[in-house]
Amino acid sequence: MARMSLTPLLVLSLAWAASATDKTLNSTLDISLAQAPTALDKVALLPSPSDWRFDFFAQPTYQYNPGAVINANAATFPATVGNGLTMSWVNLGPCAMQPPHYHPRASNYIVVIEGTVETYMIPENGGELIKVLLEPGQMTLFPKGSLHSMQNMGCDKATLVSALSTEDPGTHNVANGLFGLPRDMVAAAFGGSLSADDLDTIYGKIPPVGTGVTLGSASCLKTCHMK
Ligand SMILES: *[C@@H]1O[C@H](CO)[C@@H](O)[C@H](O)[C@H]1NC(C)=O
Repeated sequence: MARMSLTPLLVLSLAWAASATDKTLNSTLDISLAQAPTALDKVALLPSPSDWRFDFFAQPTYQYNPGAVINANAATFPATVGNGLTMSWVNLGPCAMQPPHYHPRASNYIVVIEGTVETYMIPENGGELIKVLLEPGQMTLFPKGSLHSMQNMGCDKATLVSALSTEDPGTHNVANGLFGLPRDMVAAAFGGSLSADDLDTIYGKIPPVGTGVTLGSASCLKTCHMK
């Protein structure tokens, strides 16, 4: 029995690993849309009602354990090409967080629709941490390129709707990105006091980008009896 129950877990974790970045569904169509001489030529490339509908709930990563960021963007929803916006649906399970990341090409507006979410944003070197507590119906924004993170502060699920100011915003998780640099450079960036072994230990604990959501702070997990 125990062995059988592993299979769905494995399939799920493979699906998460595969979803680290959005795969372009139809690059031929995206290129045609990007090169269409007029807006009407573009519309003609999207003849079916289904070309104009994106179903967040039907996406394979939709879940709250621990959660997911689901993007309707140039890769996943060709109708967005040339229209200057990504819409995202964000599921945060109990205590789940979006780890620190930035979008290289977009400002990001988020609205909480259920739960209580705390957001953290540092605009750039020299900028102070801006911490905002959001209840349903409240929003904040993360300027283009700012470092940001957020956590569901509650023991029930939280949900957000997120808009990004281009159909190809990109996402860069800083912990994962940092450790892609040569180890001795990372060691120097940490002030030279950490060994390669220390760094390997830290690197080994950083969750993969996955669905864009991981478990949050130890204090929240303790409050919600998840640890
Ligand atoms: C991609 O889009 C083109 C143009 O609409 C279409 O002809 C083709 O069948 C699509 N390919 C896939 C794999 O959906």
